[in-house]
Amino acid sequence: MNSFYSLEGKLSVVTGGAGLIGSSITKTLVECGSRVVVIDINREAFDAMAPEIKEMATFEHIDLTNLEQLPSHIEALWSKYGRIDNWVNNAYPRTSDWANRLEDVSVESWRKNVDMQMNSYCIASHEAARFMVGSGGGNIINMSSIQALNAPDFSIYEGTDMTTPAAYTPIKAGIMMYSKYLASYYRCKNLRVNVVCPGGVFNNQPESFLERYHRKTLLGRMASPEEIARPIAFLLSDAASYITGTALVIDGGWTAI
Ligand SMILES: NC(=O)c1ccc[n+]([C@@H]2O[C@H](COP(=O)([O-])OP(=O)(O)OC[C@H]3O[C@@H](n4cnc5c(N)ncnc54)[C@H](O)[C@@H]3O)[C@@H](O)[C@H]2O)c1
Repeated sequence: MNSFYSLEGKLSVVTGGAGLIGSSITKTLVECGSRVVVIDINREAFDAMAPEIKEMATFEHIDLTNLEQLPSHIEALWSKYGRIDNWVNNAYPRTSDWANRLEDVSVESWRKNVDMQMNSYCIASHEAARFMVGSGGGNIINMSSIQALNAPDFSIYEGTDMTTPAAYTPIKAGIMMYSKYLASYYRCKNLRVNVVCPGGVFNNQPESFLERYHRKTLLGRMASPEEIARPIAFLLSDAASYITGTALVIDGGWTAI
């Protein structure tokens, strides 16, 4: 591999690193030479990963929704591993009523999801940033969505029980703008903070949804998890050394039309 794209010798933390996209991020970063610390609450999903990936990856059971404990968790990770070069916020905690229609979203649910999904990313990325800045620099990537850029097109869900939850769009837009804030706040400190805005990832969705979704993209299909993970590896690598404070859209052209 060209050395610009190598993550050899790096320690990367991937939150939600055992999930649909996260496990692909973990695998891709390992393939690029990084050691990976997977933060997740699903140990079984991590255990199911290929042995050659687990050789280079370690599981840490941390519930990222305990916001008050995040700083001490990150400090403990720093002490345990001696370095953190890359931090990827990708976990997807949500309440059990997450899929409710807009009319049925309670105030408590709004608050909880903003806390669990947005505030956890903001606090974790800032705590990681503090350590990185104190030790010469690093990279942070926060997972947003095309929904930070465009409102959902509800027509694609017709006839299915799928939807985009009401809080998702403001949460993802908030994550996108906080990433830019953090990049700016720690300017000239060798810290790059970027955000990725993926479109939908194929996960055995209903056929009627897929047909409508495919028509909305220029590539005529949904993404695979690898197609989200590989641009993330690029952003973490030296090949992206002049990219910070940006939102990389990975959507097969959904937002281009
Ligand atoms: N799947 C898509 O189509 C899509 C599209 C755009 C953006 N995204 C974003 O990508 C990210 C990952 O999504 P996904 O589809 O892979 O989700 P997923 O549900 O498959 O995986 C999320 C992971 O987060 C872990 N997690 C949940 N709660 C946690 C907690 N409290 N503490 C620690 N870990 C926790 C889960 O165990 C799981 O492994 C999310 O930010 C999501 O919004 C997904």
